[in-house]
Amino acid sequence: METLERVEAPEFDFRGFRASVGRHSIHEYPAMLHYLLVQNLINKYSNKGDLIYDPFCGSGVSVVEALRLNRKAVGTDINPLALLIADVRTSNLDTDSIKSHLTSLQKNWFNLTPDIPTVKNINYWFKEQAIRDLGKLRTFIKEIKDRKILNFFLTTFSQTVRECSNNRKGEFKRYRIPEEKLKEYNPDVFQTFFHLAYYYLEILSKDILPSQEVSLLLHDVRKTIPINNVKLIITSPPYGDSKTTVAYGQFSSFSFDWLKGLNPYGDSNLKLDSLCLGGKKIDEIFQLPSEHLYRALDEIKKVDKKRAKEVYSFFYDYFYSIKQITNTLSSKAYVCFIVGNRTVKGIQISMDFITAEFFEHFGLKVENIFVRKISNKRMPSKNSPSNRAGKTSNTMLNEYIVILRK
Ligand SMILES: C[S@@+](CC[C@H](N)C(=O)[O-])C[C@H]1O[C@@H](n2cnc3c(N)ncnc32)[C@H](O)[C@@H]1O
Repeated sequence: METLERVEAPEFDFRGFRASVGRHSIHEYPAMLHYLLVQNLINKYSNKGDLIYDPFCGSGVSVVEALRLNRKAVGTDINPLALLIADVRTSNLDTDSIKSHLTSLQKNWFNLTPDIPTVKNINYWFKEQAIRDLGKLRTFIKEIKDRKILNFFLTTFSQTVRECSNNRKGEFKRYRIPEEKLKEYNPDVFQTFFHLAYYYLEILSKDILPSQEVSLLLHDVRKTIPINNVKLIITSPPYGDSKTTVAYGQFSSFSFDWLKGLNPYGDSNLKLDSLCLGGKKIDEIFQLPSEHLYRALDEIKKVDKKRAKEVYSFFYDYFYSIKQITNTLSSKAYVCFIVGNRTVKGIQISMDFITAEFFEHFGLKVENIFVRKISNKRMPSKNSPSNRAGKTSNTMLNEYIVILRK
């Protein structure tokens, strides 16, 4: 193995360019890729008509951009809410039909009987009026037969649930509005829903995607992936387990409850976090093929054995994901993994090098490791590595784009 090297790539910084514009601003999602970075990578490493795959597709930035650039796209994710959002973002919808459904909702609003699903501690997380009105929306949406229109309404409903809950705005984790402020807080479900629906409609009617050759699958990528002939992978995997990095299950949990039984991609709950990479702790079973991982693990073990076990568990899952992902590639295919090098107990984990070493184990060659400055990702740029409030360190200011070839 040759020595791994990083190259600064300021052309990938895209300072001053917002990441969530147009289709990418339909429903929020944590840790989204920058669409301009994705466009650049697609142009550089693939041709028109190629199949592009994002194994951890989330809300679908790479699948949307693949379609925009006339490629075929496949996305997988373990989170059914992510796939629902990606479905709407990748669809050219019949906006007239959506408008007539909205008119019918407006006309029938006062006659709808609320359908309120089981939501744990519902009165703690939602105001009484909001519960009633969200229930009315659910009643209306349940009757929509056309799957694409249904997905549009469900996505808008899900974002409405987020905006009308008692959770602090802009928080991905569960964190309630302070008691004092809650007294004054009276979210308007009806208005929020209509405002979002017309905003999304405007985006979709202005931005028609030239290709619709896409499939989205609910899948755990640690298991055999039913996809082959992939020419390019562009993805951003989780950077660590949900508990200490981004909690995708917690982020999605209110939507899971309110959309129960309606999302064509399936249901889930707070337990999703334990199903994501690193969600289950495992004892060190065998040595994973990465010198850089062991350098970090040995250091972490000296200060905290439990944290070392958590880090190992995450990379154990990550290794098996990479094994499965490698099997989807056609010959000479390119792989672009966009990762972050976080710090645990003050020790930096070089996920870019670990990614490179894992792929090399499966016969791929590293072509480049580009470094870009993050200006877009809505995730903590400062975290608390020792989980102590107030103790922060700068860890996530760079993003690393690992380019490999089969
Ligand atoms: C960094 S996010 C991807 C965000 C995406 N690039 C976007 O633009 O929205 C990582 C994703 O990995 C998914 N994930 C975690 N564990 C997974 C697993 N075992 N199989 C498939 N997806 C998983 C999470 O649900 C999350 O959506």
